[in-house]
Amino acid sequence: MKQAILPLAAGLIFSAAAVDCFAAVPDGKAVFERNCSVCHSVAPPPKSAPPIIPIAARYRAEFATKAAGVKAMTAFMQSPSKAASVIEVQAIERFGLMPSMSALSEADLRAVAGWVWDQGGAGMGPGRGAGQPKGTCR
Ligand code: HEC
Repeated sequence: MKQAILPLAAGLIFSAAAVDCFAAVPDGKAVFERNCSVCHSVAPPPKSAPPIIPIAARYRAEFATKAAGVKAMTAFMQSPSKAASVIEVQAIERFGLMPSMSALSEADLRAVAGWVWDQGGAGMGPGRGAGQPKGTCR
C-alpha cells in the first residue's frame, strides 16, 4: 500500500501545479487582445488610447488594493466618464473619452481589469509588465 501512495502524491502535486498554471495564464489577456488592443498598446508608443502600463501605474497609485482598482476600472469601462477617470485629464483631451465596454460581460471586464492592473507591477520599468505573464508554465 505504501508504494501506491508515492505516485499518487506525485500525481496530486503535479495536478495542483497544472491547476496553478492555468490560473496563471490570464484569461484577461485574451479579453484584452480581442477587445482592447485595437486602441491600446501595452507599452508606449500609444495607438489611439493611452498605453496599458502607464494606465495601470495610475490605478496602482490611486487605489490601495487590486480589488479596489479592479472594481473602479470595471465600473469605468461599463460607463466611462470624465468624472470617473483616474488617469491624467490630458489623456481624455488628447484621445477622447473611451467608448463603453458594456457589451462585454462583467466577468470578462473584471478579468481584463485584473490583467491591466498586473501590467503595472512594482518597479514598472518600461516593458516590465509586458513580459510578466510569460514563462510561468514553461
Ligand atoms: C475604441 C478605442 C478603445 C477601446 C476598444 C478600448 N479603449 Fe480603453 N481607452 C480609450 C481611450 C481613448 C482612453 C483615454 C480616455 C479615457 O480615459 O476615457 C481609454 C482609457 C482606458 C482606461 C483608463 C480609464 C480612466 O480614464 O481612468 C482603462 C483602464 C482602459 N481604457 C481599459 C480598456 C480595456 C481593458 C479595454 C478593453 C476591454 C479598452 N480600454 C478598450 C479607448 C479605447
